Amino acid sequence: MNIIKITNNQFQLNTKSTSYVMHNENGFLCHSYYGKRLPDCDHNYMSKRPMYRGSAQSNMSKNLPTLDNALLEYPGFGEVGITATAIEVLNSDGTNFVDLRVFDYCIHNGKPKIDGLPASYAEDGDNVQTLEIKTKDAISKVEVSLFYAVFYDYDVITRWVKITNNGEKAITLLRALSGNIAFDNRNYDVISNFGTWARERQIERAPLLHTGSVVESNCGSSSHYANPFMIMAEHNTTENSGEAIGIALAYSGNHKMSANLSIYNVVNLSGGISPDNFRWNLNQSESFSTPELVISFSDNGLNGLSQNFHKLIKNRVCRGIYRDKKRPVLLNLWEACYFDFTDDTIKSAADSAADLGVELLVIDDGWFGKRDNDRTSLGDWNVNADKIKCGLESLCDYVNSKGLMLGIWFEPEMVSPESELFKKHPEWVMQINGRKPTETRYQLMLDLTNPEVCDFVYKSVADVLKTTNIEYVKWDYNRTMAHIGSSYLNPEQMGEYYHRYMLGLYDVLERLTADFPNVLFEGCASGGGRFDIGMLYYTPQIWTSDDTDAVERSEIQYGTSLIYPMSCQSAHVSACPNHQTGRTVSMQARHIFALTGSFGYELAPEKIEEKDREYIKEFIKFYNENFDIFQKGKYYRLSNPKTDDYAIFEYVYEKRIIVGLMRLKTHALNFQTNIKLQGLDPNYIYTDKVSGERYCGSQLMQFGLPVNTCRNKNDFYAKMWELY
Ligand code: DGJ
Repeated sequence: MNIIKITNNQFQLNTKSTSYVMHNENGFLCHSYYGKRLPDCDHNYMSKRPMYRGSAQSNMSKNLPTLDNALLEYPGFGEVGITATAIEVLNSDGTNFVDLRVFDYCIHNGKPKIDGLPASYAEDGDNVQTLEIKTKDAISKVEVSLFYAVFYDYDVITRWVKITNNGEKAITLLRALSGNIAFDNRNYDVISNFGTWARERQIERAPLLHTGSVVESNCGSSSHYANPFMIMAEHNTTENSGEAIGIALAYSGNHKMSANLSIYNVVNLSGGISPDNFRWNLNQSESFSTPELVISFSDNGLNGLSQNFHKLIKNRVCRGIYRDKKRPVLLNLWEACYFDFTDDTIKSAADSAADLGVELLVIDDGWFGKRDNDRTSLGDWNVNADKIKCGLESLCDYVNSKGLMLGIWFEPEMVSPESELFKKHPEWVMQINGRKPTETRYQLMLDLTNPEVCDFVYKSVADVLKTTNIEYVKWDYNRTMAHIGSSYLNPEQMGEYYHRYMLGLYDVLERLTADFPNVLFEGCASGGGRFDIGMLYYTPQIWTSDDTDAVERSEIQYGTSLIYPMSCQSAHVSACPNHQTGRTVSMQARHIFALTGSFGYELAPEKIEEKDREYIKEFIKFYNENFDIFQKGKYYRLSNPKTDDYAIFEYVYEKRIIVGLMRLKTHALNFQTNIKLQGLDPNYIYTDKVSGERYCGSQLMQFGLPVNTCRNKNDFYAKMWELY
């Protein structure tokens, strides 16, 4: 099988269903094609487009040697007059020019690691090869290796670059994106997420105009506001048909994803670290590696594209035992008691949760220092003896004796001004010398560019994990960065701050996950404010949103599913009226819509009414019996909860199907609707577990599964089907 084929001046990267073709023209690495799989033949004709600005008078083009019309894979600053720039350097002569020409290439079997950064990985036996194309600027001696890892069975290609200063003088990187794909316009729409706290990852779709499209975060994290991905879909691409290209960055800090349409109708789609507030000094012989850009193409619509991302992230980004092992059904006590609890509260929650069949009990914020509200104690990671009088170890023993695992919350990157840590180490705060740093939620950030601070953060968590049988950590992060500065870095390094912070964070997470391989780490950032491929490398699940209302979650999880697998999205059944929206939704609806995520609860178990306890017990049993469908199955979005009357999803795993539905708008007349299922074996006879009704796969896909809600007038009526 030809994963990477190189002939003359062409590079052809093949996955099972896609091909990515490039060619070398005068040393410039140019894009030829990305789309449906091509045969391994000569594609030379594709490269015969005018590279320089065209003109009716052919001799004129010689006088206009700009690369505006070229499809460059990694455009250097100043080379291309009016389109995208992937790399910009402050050279020792004060100019920013970069002229990269190919001089060599090689193929690696598998996939090399990217120093200090999270990235997808290949396992032994995987059909994965990596093409490294070496380019350099002959004058400045800047060398850039462009990496293309080809995941054949996943229909994914990932890109990153390594930049080395082979010149004699120091240079400064001003922009170092992970990759750029340039192609001719075909009436594309740009699809992206925007959001905020409790309203994460709302989908927006709009035509790409010549004014361009940008998804960018400069607040220090991947953020609630702009998730680091971008999808280009043809106007007629729907959920299940048509072409779409997606790029997503494996990075949790500042990012910029952009699509830019030139007046020559060239689209440049690029992604990487945001160039705003970014500088990186490279002395002689030093190198810099960018984060990885994960790229996929599908001609099976947006759902096809999502499934490519889901498969890669679930299997070759997430790591550790919980990548494949069933995730425990957890019950988090945050909405049950907020800061107001003692060891007795937790013990009685454990008694009650164990009876329901819950597997993991999580103590959220407030177990440490003197923390009775959000004004104090971040950084003092010793148990709050006024609240947990019996101590953490003994509490853990109690919870374990009930057959439950115990988990706790940390917010390790932060410090409260009112804390022992702050008194001892005020210099460990992210701050600008001489200016008072801004507090958000009464907290400051620790300076993770300082290795000593990173060691402290590691030790704070490790000490608790070493001395107790804590088997789950919720890693929270509740503010954006401001007052960027460090008493550790020297002034020349200050422009490196944001990225150095991420390297510090990743180093701590790498050490902790390696040293505590049996602990399940869950990411969180005021809900889903740092939901990205970078974090998923360390934490195989992330708290999707602080909004636990099933109706709101149907939209948030829908938007998140564009790129991220459902098993990575924590989704909990919470109490009603819902604490964020005040809405009351049935037990069924809340349970069914927590299935489109890593399933759990967020309520006081002892307050659950007797009549609901049986339902919960049965539901947990059902979840446990079917966890492989939710963790390993393919997920299909069958409706758009923003615009449709129903929120409907489907999971398919082997010959088993689960369909969930919630009515979002009740009308005076509710007509029969038939849900057309996806991804079935057309000839297989599926049986409805409850009604015993039998359907063949093609009936379910063509006519659909009949849903008749006419008699039911309840708001948010919900139903689930199991077919096998
Ligand atoms: C924000 C998180 O999203 C919540 O789930 C909870 O852990 C609080 N922080 C605790 O302060």
